[in-house]
Amino acid sequence: MNLIFMGPPGAGKGTQARQIAEKYSIPQLSTGDMLRAAVKAGSEVGLKAKAAMESGGLVTDEIVVGIIGDRINEADCAGGFILDGFPRTVAQAEALEVMLKERSLKIDHVIDITADSEALVARITGRSTCSKCGEGYHKQHKAPAKAGICDKCGGALATRADDNEETVRNRLSVYEAQTAPVIDFYKNGGSFKTVDGMQNMDAVFQSLCDILG
Ligand code: AP5
Ligand code: MG
Repeated sequence: MNLIFMGPPGAGKGTQARQIAEKYSIPQLSTGDMLRAAVKAGSEVGLKAKAAMESGGLVTDEIVVGIIGDRINEADCAGGFILDGFPRTVAQAEALEVMLKERSLKIDHVIDITADSEALVARITGRSTCSKCGEGYHKQHKAPAKAGICDKCGGALATRADDNEETVRNRLSVYEAQTAPVIDFYKNGGSFKTVDGMQNMDAVFQSLCDILG
């Protein structure tokens, strides 16, 4: 099962992709997570991506298409994968079509998780993530039992460099200008579905499971 999770920053792509990945035993391929790891490692890709990520702009299509092309060749993707945050431009969606065709693969569901802009700002500015296992938290919607500590593994919670209000607003306008057109790219295909991301996290998960079966 090959899936695409779309949606604006903070819609819940990562939160849901982690759970769906666990339930269906397929990997979550988050370009944001991969790029953050590259920045942290100081690799060539990381050095090229850092400035765009910090300002809330997009990293070049060439870089992200390269990352995803390499990643879907790995053995754990043989039974399917969830693309979280890719494609984010029409050019990326077109490049993905080519990659899939070359590998005789297809996307089974493109799921757009929707949410209101003001809720997105509040979600992102309240977010923290475990630096050890990647579990996500929110100061109101999913607070850890002990402040700053992951409930699951005891790791330290960290906030992302791009999760301040100014950068979030820029990410939202970049989404409107460059990523919203990707919805039109997929909309007329039979695999496109929308899920209301304003529901609570468990209800969003249930809606996704209803689609995936
Ligand atoms: P990326 O990491 O993909 O960030 P994003 O798209 O801005 O999305 P987020 O990860 O912020 O949100 P999410 O939808 O995953 O929400 P989450 O589940 O965490 O990309 C970062 C940067 O990398 C980009 O800006 C760009 O520079 C670069 N990049 C990445 N991919 C690229 C590409 N393809 N092309 C070019 N550049 C690329 O939830 C958010 C918070 O809300 C959490 O605290 C969570 O607990 C809470 N929450 C989740 N669901 C709910 C709910 N239903 N109710 C209440 N709270 C909720
Ligand atoms: Mg995410």
